[in-house]
Amino acid sequence: FQPADLCNVKIAITAGPTREAIDPVRYLTNHSSGKMGYAIAEAAAKRGAQITLISGPVNLPAPANVARINTESAEQMHQAALEAATNHDIFISCAAVADFRPAEIASQKMKKKSGEDEMILRLIKNPDIVASVAGLTRQRPFTVGFAAETQDIEQYARGKLSRKNLDLICANDVSQQGQGFNSDSNALHLFWADGDKALPLAPKHDLGQQLISEIIALYKEKLDK
Ligand code: PMT
Repeated sequence: FQPADLCNVKIAITAGPTREAIDPVRYLTNHSSGKMGYAIAEAAAKRGAQITLISGPVNLPAPANVARINTESAEQMHQAALEAATNHDIFISCAAVADFRPAEIASQKMKKKSGEDEMILRLIKNPDIVASVAGLTRQRPFTVGFAAETQDIEQYARGKLSRKNLDLICANDVSQQGQGFNSDSNALHLFWADGDKALPLAPKHDLGQQLISEIIALYKEKLDK
């Protein structure tokens, strides 16, 4: 049984990878399946929250009672996130956003040149979506980031928490088998300014429910301050 206790809470969630075009047939991306972000969206919607799910290209149906906005590139996701952020109470950045994109998108399919055994692709930095949301000076939502790490998890996660001005960061060790990118389970370690909490390995659906409870508790604590 899930209480419908979040009817007055509006949450925007990003999920999945971004896709950065090289030419009309090629792109750069990563292994994010969207499962973690969609599980969070589903868990919050089941408790009555109003959800906007800003999704990269994934093979998942939108959960019930969730408004999905489809995006491809980091720039599109950035625009959708900024449009949504100021009329949501909470923003959760679960998407695996490409840090860089090709500096130029070729308008025609790029051709191999005879005699050339290598090609150089110049990349430029993408906007940092969660940092832009956390940096809003008016109607800034309670802002939650993720940290995908392979070593020194707490140090890197706490670095992102303060550098990106987040209220909470959810770190996952993506070097472990059976968790992180594209798996059905995950384990998270949450860090905030004056605390931390480990959520042990569990199916992403269960973890999504636990995470929503933790986020709501910290969000309410901040509101009451
Ligand atoms: O989708 P799944 O297959 O279920 O996998 C889930 C997941 C592993 C993708 C997820 O749990 C996760 O860790 N998501 C964040 C992945 C990531 O890009 O982490 P990061 O440490 O590189 O980024 C830190 C934070 O900044 C993240 O909240 C990210 O969304 C955000 N970011 C990063 C770069 C950028 N240009 N804009 C951003 O908003």
